[in-house]
Amino acid sequence: MNQNEKPVICVIGMGYVGLPLAAVAASKGYTVYGFDNDQKKLDLIKQGLSPFKEEFLEQLLPKVKINVFSNPKLMSECDIHIICVPTPVDDKYFPDLGPVISASETVAKNMRKGSLVILESTVNPGVSEEFVKPIFEKAGYEIGKDVFISHCPERVNPGDPKWNVSNIPRVVGSFDEIGLKRSQEFYESIVDAKIMPMATIREAEAVKITENSFRDINIAFVNELARSFERMDIDVTNVIKGASTKPFSFLAHWPSCGVGGHCIPVDPYYLIEKAKENDFDHVFLRAARKINNSMPEYTIELLQDQLNEIEKSLKGTIVGVLGLSYKANVGDLRESPSFELIKLLEKNGAKVVTFDPFVPAMSSTKSIDELLEKSEAVLLATNHQEFINIPVEKFVQSNIKVITDGKNCLNKAEIQKHGIIYKGIGR
Ligand SMILES: NC(=O)c1ccc[n+]([C@@H]2O[C@H](COP(=O)([O-])OP(=O)(O)OC[C@H]3O[C@@H](n4cnc5c(N)ncnc54)[C@H](O)[C@@H]3O)[C@@H](O)[C@H]2O)c1
Repeated sequence: MNQNEKPVICVIGMGYVGLPLAAVAASKGYTVYGFDNDQKKLDLIKQGLSPFKEEFLEQLLPKVKINVFSNPKLMSECDIHIICVPTPVDDKYFPDLGPVISASETVAKNMRKGSLVILESTVNPGVSEEFVKPIFEKAGYEIGKDVFISHCPERVNPGDPKWNVSNIPRVVGSFDEIGLKRSQEFYESIVDAKIMPMATIREAEAVKITENSFRDINIAFVNELARSFERMDIDVTNVIKGASTKPFSFLAHWPSCGVGGHCIPVDPYYLIEKAKENDFDHVFLRAARKINNSMPEYTIELLQDQLNEIEKSLKGTIVGVLGLSYKANVGDLRESPSFELIKLLEKNGAKVVTFDPFVPAMSSTKSIDELLEKSEAVLLATNHQEFINIPVEKFVQSNIKVITDGKNCLNKAEIQKHGIIYKGIGR
């Protein structure tokens, strides 16, 4: 690449994070390559289609060119490699850095000298230094001379109509000044917002974990309030609305039947585990995780209590679960509480039918109407707009006796007025 040429970009991992980034970079005039080990995803992107529903992407993808590829040798054509692969936890909540390690190895093996490598995946402080850097050193590269390594955590919020990869401010950290400057310049060229350089790469890693832990803790707090206030016959949603009238020092979070997604219920474990290495116990964060993980069970207890009021039990009752995805108006199923709710319902002997307009292939019914016709009780697990819009009369016509509103998004007064037993989370 000569000085006046734009660097060629390679995005590794064409998911919720990597694909929007690749599309925005392409829209800003960069030549963009997109690598993934899921061929089906690549085939869709090649046709200008998004593998997941995202309005922002659906508009942008047909207008830009992303050169998708699965042969890593092509990485040698690129100058900046941006790693956007998953960072999950295993069934014991232990961080799984496998994808980050294998993607870094692929880049180290195939890149050309002088490349800039940016990790966007969410990781705990220390991952770039302890896992990523040694991979490039082992491949024979000197950091800060043959390869430059940075971390720029992604903050996208899929389904958000306002905030997307092109307008969310970013932080970036690097091992050296050149890496920092090159990274900052790249993000400034594609993002219309502030790019804040951090003093160290560890600080950049810690920023993202702090943001998501903050959210998890605040959600745990309102979930705890919901359970406490329920016993005092206080509607927690009204209390939060009241507290929100304070113009400073209060930030509203909302209780629900569980916390889902690839980030909030996952990222805190990366910090909890890392801190253990330093003999530090994140008591507060562990408590938050415990509370949030207990919400599906609590929700099922609420439903059982409601059924008791009409002398029924979960055993043998047909429960219609509205929503499979973890979040409103998207089809992302990762860590969705719906699956835990369904498991608990079935464990208690209930018969379960499901519907999610964003995940029709996994729904056991084809429409809200069919679900309601087949159900005796309804458990709303996802606040899709389509569910919020259901007229109360429909529940009445279908002879629904009990509604548990796991997202506090239905009209409680209206439902109760029609003689249906309603319970929300702390409401
Ligand atoms: N989804 C979000 O809202 C969000 C927001 C901010 C940050 N993040 C973080 O960004 C990272 C990516 O998340 P995501 O939601 O885009 O995940 P995703 O599962 O949607 O996408 C990851 C992609 O990487 C591919 N992949 C996995 N291993 C690979 C490898 N070794 N080589 C090439 N491709 C590989 C997968 O096939 C998949 O297409 C995670 O660390 C996540 O915590 C996610």
